[in-house]
Formats: sequence, structure tokens, C-alpha cells
Amino acid sequence: MSIIVAPSLLAADFLNLESEMKMLNRSEADWIHLDIMDGVFVPNISFGFPVVNRLREVTLKPLDVHLMIVRPEKFVDEVAAAGATFMNVHYEACTHLHRVVQEIRKRGMKPAVTLNPHTPVQVLEDILPDLDMVLLMSVNPGFGGQQFIEHSVRKTAALREMILRQQTSTLIEVDGGVNQETGRRLVDAGADVLVAGSFVFSSERPEETIHRLRML
Ligand code: DX5
Ligand code: ZN
Repeated sequence: MSIIVAPSLLAADFLNLESEMKMLNRSEADWIHLDIMDGVFVPNISFGFPVVNRLREVTLKPLDVHLMIVRPEKFVDEVAAAGATFMNVHYEACTHLHRVVQEIRKRGMKPAVTLNPHTPVQVLEDILPDLDMVLLMSVNPGFGGQQFIEHSVRKTAALREMILRQQTSTLIEVDGGVNQETGRRLVDAGADVLVAGSFVFSSERPEETIHRLRML
């Protein structure tokens, strides 16, 4: 079985989004990862729903929406209306995480919870059976092109161990600083889904780069 690859559009050329989307459509990319930032939860602002809605019109690939915002529960309807398959909310941004997860599922999306680099996977013990995916940040969220944080490999292994012990079918996704080398180690540790931004979009042959990541 191949690895699921979700290129992050944050590293795309925003002046040529249409051709970037056509490239992704031609490629073997499994999903498209969309990073929404609010300048409050993270020190950066990216793009919002008007952009996501237009992107939805030009691709059939599942959208994996990563919300780096405070109070993501306010936008469950908007994310669902944009046609997202996965709605990723940060553990650190949700006081009532269980309620948010139920809301996401009620709107027909797959709930995923994201952990910042400093948040241990053990906080997910009780919520794990309710999740379709856990997204481990392997950089501090907010920017593309940052250096991979090494402990993410051990963290991936610890989460895989928790999933096996609880016998859930939760996917493990890792985001930040992913390339062929870090991707290999993450897959060995138990990752199912790799998000890659700059590694894909700064590559001379992005379609081939996506193919090679899937073969890890
Ligand atoms: C970072 C975002 C990532 C980012 C990854 O806050 O969540 O999805 O685009 O970029 P790279 O792959 O360049 O580290
Ligand atoms: Zn992301």
C-alpha cells in the first residue's frame, strides 16, 4: 500500500494557482492540504474561504483543511460548505474538543485533531476512538519551509503504539519539513499521510516528487 501524500498549497505560486492545481490534478497526489491561518493562533495569515471555495471547483481530490485558528468551532459550516473531506482542528485551540469533533462529524466531514510540537500524544488517549486522523506538527505551525523537528519521529512511533493498543483505525498525518529523508523515517515510525509544501513546490519536477513520496 502506498503512502498518502497531501501537498500543501501554502508553498504554491499564488499568482498561478490554476496551473498549480492542474499540476496537482495530473499528479498522484492523494489529497490537497489547505492551511488556513488567522494571525492569532499562529503569527501569520494565509488564505480563507473565498479561495478554498474556488479551489474546490477545479479539483476532485479530497481537501484536507488544516485550521490554524482560535475557536475553529465557529467555522464548521464554512469548512463543510467548501467541500472539505477532513477538518483538522488544533488540540491547543479547543476547550471543548469532544464537542467540536462531534460537530465536524455531524456535518459529514472526517474529524482530525492536530498537535503542536510541544503537545504530547498522551492527551489524545480518551478522544482517539472518535478521530479519523491525528495530525502531528513537525514544525511550529505558521510558515512553510521550516526545519523538521527531530522528536516528531519518536512521537509518530508513540502514537502508532497508542493506535495499535486501542485498536482504532486512526490515520497518522505529519506536517512540516517533510522531504524524502524525513518522510522515510516518519513512514518507518508509522506515519500514513505525509504533508509536503516546499519540498513539492520548489522541486523541478513536482509530479515526480509526489510520486517518489508515495513510494516511501
Ligand atoms: C505550516 C503548515 C504546513 C506547511 C508545511 O504551518 O501547516 O502545512 O505548509 O510546509 P513545508 O512542507 O514547507 O514545511
Ligand atoms: Zn498544514
